[in-house]
Amino acid sequence: MKPMKTALIGCGAIAGNHLTAIGKIPGVEPVALCDAIPERAEAAKKKYAPTAAIYTDYKKMLDEARPDAVHIATPHYLHCEMACEALARLSRKTGLYLRRGNRPHDRSRAEQPGEAHGLFSKSI
Ligand SMILES: NC(=O)c1ccc[n+]([C@@H]2O[C@H](COP(=O)([O-])OP(=O)(O)OC[C@H]3O[C@@H](n4cnc5c(N)ncnc54)[C@H](O)[C@@H]3O)[C@@H](O)[C@H]2O)c1
Repeated sequence: MKPMKTALIGCGAIAGNHLTAIGKIPGVEPVALCDAIPERAEAAKKKYAPTAAIYTDYKKMLDEARPDAVHIATPHYLHCEMACEALARLSRKTGLYLRRGNRPHDRSRAEQPGEAHGLFSKSI
C-alpha cells in the first residue's frame, strides 16, 4: 500500500507533537513542512522528518507535495484561509487537521468546501 503523505503548516511550539504522533503511525509519511520562518522548518525536518521537503510558501507546498493529509498548526487567524486552500486542492482521500481554537464562523466557512467534496473536516 502506498504511504499516506502528510504535510504540516506551521513549525512552531506544537509542531513537534504532531510530527511525533505522525512518526508513530505505520504507513504515514511526513513529506513536507512549511513555516514562514525557514529556520523553524529546517529544525523540524532535522529532528522529526529528515526526508521531508521544506517550504516557506504553503500554497506552493500544497501544489508541489500534493499531500493526502494536511496539519495546520499556525496562529488561529490563518486557519480558515489555509484550510480553504488545502481543501480546494484536495482529492477525495485528503484529510485536514486544524488545531483547536479557530473561530466558529471561520470553522464553518472552512468546512463548506470539505462538505462539498463529501469529506470530513474537523477542528479539535
Ligand atoms: N503550543 C501549544 O501548547 C498548543 C496547544 C494546543 C493548541 N495549540 C494551537 O496550535 C496552533 C499553533 O500554536 P503554536 O503554539 O505552535 O504557535 P507558534 O507561534 O509557536 O507556531 C506557529 C508557527 O506558524 C508559523 N507561521 C505563521 N504564519 C505562517 C504562514 N503564513 N505560513 C507558514 N507558517 C506560518 C510561525 O512562523 C510559527 O513558527 C495554534 O492554533 C494554537 O492555539 C497550541
